[in-house]
Amino acid sequence: MEALRIITEEHQNLWRIATTLDMVADEIDGGARVEVPFFTSVFDYIDQFMDRAHHAKEDEFLFRLLRERSPEAGAILDRLQAEHRNGPENLRDLRAKLASTAAGGENNAAFTAALRNYTQGMRSHVRSEEKDAMPLAREVLTAADWAEIDRAFLDNEDPLFGAKARAEFRELFHRIVSLAPESVGLGARSAGELQPGVLAPRGDVLLSVSGLESCYGRIKALKGIDLEVRQGELVALVGANGAGKTTFLRTLSGVQPMSAGRIVFDGEDISKLRSDLRMRRGICQSPEGRQVFGPLSIEDNLRLGAYTQPKSQVEGDLEKIYAMFPILKEKRLLPAGTLSGGQQQMLAIGRALMGRPKMLLLDEPSMGLAPLLVEEVFNVVKTLKGQGMTIFLVEQNAFAALAIADRGYVLETGSVTLTGTGQELIANEQVRAAYLGM
Ligand SMILES: Nc1ncnc2c1ncn2[C@@H]1O[C@H](COP(=O)(O)OP(=O)(O)O)[C@@H](O)[C@H]1O
Ligand SMILES: [Mg+2]
Repeated sequence: MEALRIITEEHQNLWRIATTLDMVADEIDGGARVEVPFFTSVFDYIDQFMDRAHHAKEDEFLFRLLRERSPEAGAILDRLQAEHRNGPENLRDLRAKLASTAAGGENNAAFTAALRNYTQGMRSHVRSEEKDAMPLAREVLTAADWAEIDRAFLDNEDPLFGAKARAEFRELFHRIVSLAPESVGLGARSAGELQPGVLAPRGDVLLSVSGLESCYGRIKALKGIDLEVRQGELVALVGANGAGKTTFLRTLSGVQPMSAGRIVFDGEDISKLRSDLRMRRGICQSPEGRQVFGPLSIEDNLRLGAYTQPKSQVEGDLEKIYAMFPILKEKRLLPAGTLSGGQQQMLAIGRALMGRPKMLLLDEPSMGLAPLLVEEVFNVVKTLKGQGMTIFLVEQNAFAALAIADRGYVLETGSVTLTGTGQELIANEQVRAAYLGM
């Protein structure tokens, strides 16, 4: 049932886009401009991703087999598939409305009404697939059906859906985020590139933590943590607010004292090493709440991240960060405090990258961000992993983190209670009930 996981993830993206369009419609009703490049990027994404790839795949495999297996399926699928068929035309109407609005032929209110009507349709479609079609599929499809469906959804060579197409979808999504108004996106003029890169080989153990304890006064916040991260791995530590995630990260980077245990990094016992020396060894952290230096310029904030590095490489590294996050280049001389939340998160990640990490620590990068940006931050993390970076990601947003993680640990009041691959944990009943709200 891998296909259902993929469809659910895609639904989350579409839902984020619907939410974003509604937010932007509110802003336009409040007097904001209609930004043609932004809407064009959204419509392109929907056209290529939802109408051409996602719906086509559902029709061809999942829905076809569902009709064969269940007499009840017809009633549900007739409506869903009619919506699939009408999708491209609805989108063409919307594009036409956008064009005439931009040319002054129609007022903004007519456009936002059409937009809201469209997002409402999108939501009800997604909801019906999740609440009606997918449960039925789980019930009636056979193992052989699932094998066929999953093969189709996982085919990396598929021109509509394979690895190459997915990289293009990611670029399109990235464009939306860049072109979206600053309140909900990054608000850049150029979209930039997020090169997916090649997967790093999974290697030797890079970090090994054993029996780690840390206290605030007499309160033990970490009660003996054992954990391991391998070279090139993306490992997620998920847990509720107050579980001890930040304390764990701060103990790793050496700004929080440990009262017991051992940390071995890259073959060296660093348990007693000062935090700046750990940074020199390649442990670089993007802290919770971003913590950029508001009065300093964006560029100076980035330079601060490189203070342990030789001067000669700083300019080149700055350019790499700017290529990844064009909005930071555009605003490089402005005080960091003028950036929106999403932009500050990119800056915090960029600053950590300036330290040339061997292991990048991210503390709740999605916290407090608009839905579109949550997806974008995870896109960035995925891209960094694709470039071979070893990443330790701490998140309350368990679903999003585990969806991209190789492995995960669940932390509850200072102890690790579960561990497994990202997919195992997402499928785990306990995790679903406690963290995914399912
Ligand atoms: N500076 C502090 N002083 C005292 N207790 C703290 C401090 N920081 C965190 N704690 C406590 O330690 C526990 C873990 O906190 P934290 O690591 O921030 O959790 P998380 O990042 O998972 O939300 C919580 O019970 C919290 O109240
Ligand atoms: Mg925290």
